[in-house]
Amino acid sequence: MMNTQKRHKVEFGDFQTPINLAREVCAMVAQTGFRPASILEPTCGTGSFLRASLETFSDTKRVLGFDINHEYILKARKVLKPFMTSQTDIEISQSDFFLTDWSRVIEELPEPILIIGNPPWVTNARLSTLGSNNLPAKSNLDGLRGIDALTGKSNFDISEWMLRENLKWLDGKDGMLAMLCKTTVARKVLQYAWKKGITIASAAIYQIDAQKHFGAAVDACLLLVRTSPAGRSKEARVYPSLHARQATKMFGLRDGLLVADIHLYEKWKHLMGNGLRGWRSGIKHDASKVFELRLINGKLINGFGEVVDIEPDVLFPLLKSSDLVAHRPPQRWLIVPQRTIGEDISHLQTDAPKTWNYLMTHAHLLDKRKSAVYKNRPRFSIFGVGPYSFAPWKVAISGLYKKLEFVQVPPFQGRPVVFDDTCYFFPCQSEEECRVLYELIMSEPAIEFLSAFIFWDSKRPITARLLNLIDLMALARELGKDNEITRRLAERQVMKYRSETHKMTTVQLNLL
Ligand SMILES: C[S@@+](CC[C@H](N)C(=O)[O-])C[C@H]1O[C@@H](n2cnc3c(N)ncnc32)[C@H](O)[C@@H]1O
Repeated sequence: MMNTQKRHKVEFGDFQTPINLAREVCAMVAQTGFRPASILEPTCGTGSFLRASLETFSDTKRVLGFDINHEYILKARKVLKPFMTSQTDIEISQSDFFLTDWSRVIEELPEPILIIGNPPWVTNARLSTLGSNNLPAKSNLDGLRGIDALTGKSNFDISEWMLRENLKWLDGKDGMLAMLCKTTVARKVLQYAWKKGITIASAAIYQIDAQKHFGAAVDACLLLVRTSPAGRSKEARVYPSLHARQATKMFGLRDGLLVADIHLYEKWKHLMGNGLRGWRSGIKHDASKVFELRLINGKLINGFGEVVDIEPDVLFPLLKSSDLVAHRPPQRWLIVPQRTIGEDISHLQTDAPKTWNYLMTHAHLLDKRKSAVYKNRPRFSIFGVGPYSFAPWKVAISGLYKKLEFVQVPPFQGRPVVFDDTCYFFPCQSEEECRVLYELIMSEPAIEFLSAFIFWDSKRPITARLLNLIDLMALARELGKDNEITRRLAERQVMKYRSETHKMTTVQLNLL
């Protein structure tokens, strides 16, 4: 159970910035030559950033600080007392970011405007588990719909919402945003601003050691964005630390896409396809204790330690991310009761009665699965299953690991191998197809092309969406390997499958 103090810290994303770090950030802003006429910190806490900015920019005319926490406001006022002079108008007020009339606040600020600070580090999902409503009124950030919202992509940091607002305030103005935040948040905010056409003149991300400064194990950075009325930039330089002089990479928006490495993108963009779908994610079922079985001394054992007796037709060898990375053969067997998403499986009552009974025995658990993907689907449904799941050979990769390492996966004990939903794969009909695809996808052009889009600090750097960006035909031509096999593989990238149902007794391995 979390104590009140800890709960408060989590709910308000409350990590006060050490004064030395705030000073370093202000020194960086000064180094760019920027001199603010006004400074605004929308969630100022105990005032480290305001103090450091006043030390650095002593001739600022107007300084405004806000925070939801009254005690912090009192502390900040005390800290800033020595800076209150007749030349500098300083106002520190208690205010809830989500209820403040910001347009009125911004209107009164003389340009150039510096918006500085460190917004709360907490996600809406975490707030909802705490029963907190420290959120914007309309909290579905991108208006995400359908499958994205269902699979949780709509989870966001409240700092992301705040930073988007900060940049909107600076649109068309002479200003600078200097904010500490998670690196993923900084990227999403920039992507949003670039797409929206906010007048950005330049942007940079400086990685910081969040463990050292805040005791938090996250990838964090200083996001520095210069705005000006004529700003049209859509790229950002990445620096490995606040003191680094050389940027290691440049990411940005190119052809409407967020590109992790602009140089590699420009080099290989001719390999990009459109609307391709050959790469698939593995099977999602959210009930490993029921669906996943281990073979121990010739007996199938489920996650409850029970011996399971079911028809072999429903069982497929399962590989997880950890198996793929360790190049291990399957350690488990997965019960796959459907052949396509949404297939009605009541036919199992007659076709595979032992399996049906087993699932019925655990129905109380399966019916309780929370993910919205199971809503309005037949009972005991799984997700991410289709004819491609039963292809005999596959080239696969883990979405969780920080390496572009593909694996050739042969059938195991005469059965096609399936994957869990942390893995991605491409279905192959034969060993030869598998080898040819492996050679294509592990080639230097393919690895560099994919690297152009990968942000390795993301939770899941590799996704089906990423893998489906590469046009296998264009890649084969690039490598001088335009032949019958590569053409067949490329055709599979545009293939649509009819969602017909297949009886469990007819294991069709050649549906492709
Ligand atoms: C990460 S701390 C940073 C504080 C300060 N900016 C600094 O750098 O030291 C986030 C701050 O946001 C404040 N906060 C959280 N939710 C808020 C809200 N809805 N409105 C205003 N301030 C809020 C917290 O009280 C906390 O002081």
